[in-house]
Amino acid sequence: MTQRHLLTIEDLGADGIVELLHLTDTFTEVATRAIPKVPALVGRTVAQLFFEDSTRTRLSFETAARRLSADVLTFTAKTSSLNKGESLRDTVLTVSAMGVDAFVVRHASSGAPAQIAHWLEADGNGEVVVNAGDGAHAHPTQALLDCYTIRQHRKEIADRADAPADRLFEGLRVLIVGDARHSRVCRSNVEALTALGADVTLVGPPTLLPVTTKGWGVSTSTDLDEALLGADVVYLLRMQLERQREARVPSLPEYTARWGLTTARAERLDPSALVMAPGPINRGVELSSDAADLPCSVITDQVTNGVATRMAVLFKLLSAGRDSGE
Ligand code: CP
Repeated sequence: MTQRHLLTIEDLGADGIVELLHLTDTFTEVATRAIPKVPALVGRTVAQLFFEDSTRTRLSFETAARRLSADVLTFTAKTSSLNKGESLRDTVLTVSAMGVDAFVVRHASSGAPAQIAHWLEADGNGEVVVNAGDGAHAHPTQALLDCYTIRQHRKEIADRADAPADRLFEGLRVLIVGDARHSRVCRSNVEALTALGADVTLVGPPTLLPVTTKGWGVSTSTDLDEALLGADVVYLLRMQLERQREARVPSLPEYTARWGLTTARAERLDPSALVMAPGPINRGVELSSDAADLPCSVITDQVTNGVATRMAVLFKLLSAGRDSGE
């Protein structure tokens, strides 16, 4: 991993993803200690710039930074001087002037973290920028923690079968179901999973599938019942009503009837299949409450793994600058 920032999964490539998955193992072990904290980033400051709502990503980056012994500044747009007319650029450069090493940025506009990285570089500052989700564009750390969670569970199966633990993603049948058109999580997961060799199918109503998937390396389907046969991972996307400009399905109950993981559909899954969702989940819409709580549902594991994954990302980006004396 040679990039200064983490803006997309494309920045990493397959080798960079694998490197971070291995590094995440180290920080997963740290979490099992009586005091789950290491001094790796003592003296470093991580600024959390959240211009859009978040629970999981904001709190897990904050936990990750603190477990690495970094200081944390948390900025929330709703209570900031943006409301007095300060621009995004002036806001970023103001926080930068306080002495910051990394910016973790969530924004409703695609490209905002890249723009912030550009402003910081033009200003001659050495901060790294991590994209914590921008519009419908990318959510790279979500994809990393999802790949880590799949790898964790597939490794358990491989160990039980005494099968080689490497190449766990090759040929893995992953369904990403729902509102793929508006989903940054979908885009980043497609990039990560296909780079690792998984066989990805996007499933949903035609109005919620991407306008084109040319160059994505995925299949598409509108028939969830057919697609579920033989699936290893069923990844349910939330209906992102905040990014839809018009009604894309007749009604949510009709959506659930055809594309939701109902309890009846979940019962037909292979016993080793995983049910995943990035959260927040809408119980009774993209999956039933029972399906969300089945033993094969690893949604809580995804949240747990988010901390170690984000520790790996912050450690990698910030220790790179330290090693080279930048
Ligand atoms: N998965 C995810 O990004 O959740 P939050 O919006 O709660 O951060």
